Amino acid sequence: MSYLDLPPLRHAAGTVRLPGSKSISNRTLLLAALAEGGTRIHDLLDSDDTRVMLTGLRQLGIAVESIGADSYCVTGAGGAFPVKAAELFLGNAGTAFRPLTAALALSGGRYVLSGVPRMHERPIGDLVDGLRQIGADVRYLGSEGYPPLEVRPAAIRLEAPIKVRGDVSSQFLTALLMALPLTGEPAVIEMTSELISKPYIEITLKLMARFGVSVQRDGWERFTIAGGQRYSSPGEIHVEGDASSASYFLAAGAIGGGPVRVEGVGRDSIQGDVAFADALAQMGARIETGPNWIEARGPADGRLKAIDLDCNHIPDAAMTLAVAALFADGPCTLRNIASWRVKETDRIAAMAAELRKVGGIVEEGGDYLTVTPTTLLAGKEGLGSQQVPLMVRQAHHERNLRAHLGLSQQDTVRPELVEGLIEIETYDDHRMAMCLSLAALGGVSVRILDPGCVAKTFPTYFDAYAQITAPVVAIDGPSASGKGTVAARVAQTLGYRMLDSGALYRLTALAARRAGVDWTDEAAVAAVAAGLPAEFDGEKILLSGDDVSDAIRTEEMGVGASIVAALPSVRAALLERQRAYRRWPGLVADGRDMGSVVFPQAECKVFLTASAEARAERRYKQLIGKGMPANMAALLEDLRERDARDAARSVAPLQKCADAELLDTTDLSIEQAVDAVLGWARCRMQ
Ligand code: DC
Repeated sequence: MSYLDLPPLRHAAGTVRLPGSKSISNRTLLLAALAEGGTRIHDLLDSDDTRVMLTGLRQLGIAVESIGADSYCVTGAGGAFPVKAAELFLGNAGTAFRPLTAALALSGGRYVLSGVPRMHERPIGDLVDGLRQIGADVRYLGSEGYPPLEVRPAAIRLEAPIKVRGDVSSQFLTALLMALPLTGEPAVIEMTSELISKPYIEITLKLMARFGVSVQRDGWERFTIAGGQRYSSPGEIHVEGDASSASYFLAAGAIGGGPVRVEGVGRDSIQGDVAFADALAQMGARIETGPNWIEARGPADGRLKAIDLDCNHIPDAAMTLAVAALFADGPCTLRNIASWRVKETDRIAAMAAELRKVGGIVEEGGDYLTVTPTTLLAGKEGLGSQQVPLMVRQAHHERNLRAHLGLSQQDTVRPELVEGLIEIETYDDHRMAMCLSLAALGGVSVRILDPGCVAKTFPTYFDAYAQITAPVVAIDGPSASGKGTVAARVAQTLGYRMLDSGALYRLTALAARRAGVDWTDEAAVAAVAAGLPAEFDGEKILLSGDDVSDAIRTEEMGVGASIVAALPSVRAALLERQRAYRRWPGLVADGRDMGSVVFPQAECKVFLTASAEARAERRYKQLIGKGMPANMAALLEDLRERDARDAARSVAPLQKCADAELLDTTDLSIEQAVDAVLGWARCRMQ
């Protein structure tokens, strides 16, 4: 896909399960490969960078076996790589290139390491210098100081401390630290300049310790590895969620109200980037943490505060602060970020260029960035000092924009805002794409070019972002209250997607019946629900490719759905599947627990009901209309029984939530009901 259009977004709330951390995934893979014994690695990130590492390790003779979704068993070499000659292509994966260079330089073989053109522009001289000091034979095949490289066998001497610079990339130190235990000799590394990104070194040391090698750290200047240490497998290891990825969602919560909760990192994380949450708190966001989660809400007074922060300790997550700065009450300065210049792209220059497009005044320094949230306007004198921010909530529409700012027809408004689409370049940099997607929370439409670049660390990023930002209209109510018809009309009018959750329960009942599973056998029905081979193809509903649109609408399947829907594990099995329907530009969800359980953060909640008699009559007409047999008295009794069962069950009983609007449709036409729901929806979405 060459671009992705994000609609103007206003709120962010919900829960996101983070993918595994890139840094931890690739370090863990390498350490497992060098260790004695097999390591079962769980929750490994599935991304470009980890794929590059997995391929590289296999090429180097390491057995890597997939043992389930995101789980691998790596059989370690118990020392240097067994394959002694190889050519490795490592894409743009710095977390694979640097550590493999060091490990291969100490492996006694002949190797060539190369990558994409951008990888060949990213410096590696400090690492090569460090390796040459101990006798390694590392040669530049292109420009001096940059990949591609060739490594040849050499005698390694570790008498003197290795002197390395730490001010370009901490990955050089990480690479040396992880590789040196291969020699079995005592080794000392001394920093000759200030070490940047210290929390990443902390991750390296903690993971090395998990694999049985301890490093003595004296301040951040000197690292000593005692001789005779070898990596040994910890057996089983779980990769933490990516704390840098958490930053986008936490910032979304801070900008878009929240609460947004990320799961996978929390108070007990080994990743320094969790400190991003502290930076957001400094901006006034309300942050809560648990051992394995962090939650962010907007400031109590609704407006983020400007900050001036040394970001050296959170280099990646600090990019997110640069975008959050657009929503602050004054200029924000991010300092000590020179390392941005040698990342996937020159991130200082790239960030400055893109933030300007979305209305920031940006001052770009050698190692800092100042972002002033500004007027989106040109030609209106005096507004600059007033600092009308990007998030003039409905600014994408010229009329709203003018009204909001009290401008007359003579004042000029920047054309891209009038057109409502701001095009964002992403520079083949996943973090640029993810960061700038937050600008849509300012109520503007944003076109993200090359959105696929997020695959480097977070292939499903935009789905996850949609699942906390796409507006939801939740329509709950008893059977035959007219929910389905009203929901479909509302969805059509707003151009939203539609979730008929009742159909999922009906499909589960039908699939269970076809599989010979009793509707009351909770574990078996839950297994059916978890793997439901259902597809929604326009009007058609397919089960294992079969059109079952009519088969699920019978009274019998309605009863079956109501029985299976009372089983807690069936509801749990269908929960994520229902949440995945939340996409841009929005979702209308109909069911029993849309507002209470599935989308508790829904902007607009409606409880639609009608008297049992009115509902029985509607169902009667429906069935007769389809040429199906129907009996009024039986239908009424059936409905009453079903209402009682849906309302009495222990999980998600049918009831109106406190924050839902009540709509009794007994005496309303469909048009009147639709208008009422649309009225509430429009009012709540503002
Ligand atoms: O809306 P419907 O008649 O298609 O729903 C069929 C059954 O599924 C209904 O009796 C209750 C159950 N259901 C539920 O428990 N939760 C939902 N969100 C939707 C339906």
